[in-house]
Amino acid sequence: MGADCNVRDLALAEQGLRRIAWAAGEMAVLAGIGERFARERPLAGIRVAACLHVTAETANLLRVLIAGGAQVRLCASNPLSTQDDVAAALVARDAVPVFAVRGESTDAYYRNIDAALSGGPQLTLDDGADLISRLHGPRAAWLPGVIGGMEETTTGVMRLRAMAAEGALRYPVIAVNDAMSKHFFDNRYGTGQSTLDGILRATNILLAAKVFTVAGYGWCGRGIALRARGMGAQVIVTEVDSLRALEALMDGYRVMPMAEAARVSDFIVTATGDRNVVDAPHFERMKDGCVLANAGHFNVEVNIDALARMAVGRHRPREHVEEFRLADGRRLRLLAEGRLVNLAAAEGHPSSVMDMSFANQALCAEHFVKNRGRLDARVHEVPPEIDREVARLKLAAMGIAIDALSAEQRAYLVSWREGT
Ligand code: ADE
Repeated sequence: MGADCNVRDLALAEQGLRRIAWAAGEMAVLAGIGERFARERPLAGIRVAACLHVTAETANLLRVLIAGGAQVRLCASNPLSTQDDVAAALVARDAVPVFAVRGESTDAYYRNIDAALSGGPQLTLDDGADLISRLHGPRAAWLPGVIGGMEETTTGVMRLRAMAAEGALRYPVIAVNDAMSKHFFDNRYGTGQSTLDGILRATNILLAAKVFTVAGYGWCGRGIALRARGMGAQVIVTEVDSLRALEALMDGYRVMPMAEAARVSDFIVTATGDRNVVDAPHFERMKDGCVLANAGHFNVEVNIDALARMAVGRHRPREHVEEFRLADGRRLRLLAEGRLVNLAAAEGHPSSVMDMSFANQALCAEHFVKNRGRLDARVHEVPPEIDREVARLKLAAMGIAIDALSAEQRAYLVSWREGT
């Protein structure tokens, strides 16, 4: 293995290549952008550091950036989400310096982030804001060359807004997560499907007639609840926001505090972005066999330390499942060490939604280079023309035509004189 990479085993590259090609079959929008990038080379010579889940979909994004002329270095945005075969394929076929090994320790995770930053990136691509937080901390020496950054996920955008509010953010960042063509689809249908996929692969337990609690009714929680109901579960939603709670209620779910939901749930899945949403008082009330999983970015939503302290025994009955036995004999089953269950126990979101998310990433990278030096150091929205273009391209790729306003209709929409 060349010195400038850290992956599990280059012999896995063949398998990785096949999975990358399979994913590409569902990523027509990104492919179209890649063809244009190859002709126009909008990212020629631009150094990119990417801290993303190392998946087949991410590999397809990287190929588009490289087609556009970028020099990309990649590390993982979660220690448990790396697909080692994809990492190997990116090194072997595309000569991308990849620093990611599934199951890496926390120390190795940060060493790999620093390796991806090495040389000083001009653009950063984050999923959780770890590159940016590193560049604003121990790796600040590399800050001056950065043109801008993109953030993929809700949690990362929250961290960035906190940095901006404190006046700490030193370069412009685009909140890709907040594009409608991203979170309407990726967060809702992507998380919905892949979270259920992870839970089912890990447990193979029938969902029909089970009580399935979703903590948090943001875009991810909405998707998880929708898909769990689709498989016949009785869905409970817990929330802290009155509007979202009301929405969940009117969407047809039961709504109650976690302390009540814990008593009756067969599954509890967190998607809040906050810590200790499922905690000791809840563990005390749970039914025997309750399955606990997290779909939020960080492994903080289930208080695992508290669960470990309460347990009198623990063992692993299946891959991705750890069973904690409590003093009264009840067994609570934690999936994927409380990390993102959809990426740790399954393969992440389906390629078709990542197609739109990553099309936004590629077009925002181009936007930064075109507007180099003109954007101020704050959190920016995805330009609305990019957002709509991604949706338009996706419809076209799906062979769906839509209507267009007539001149008369356009004029009516901006007039106020005409009434009943
Ligand atoms: N985040 C969620 N699913 C993903 C995937 N398949 N690839 C990259 N990032 C993801």
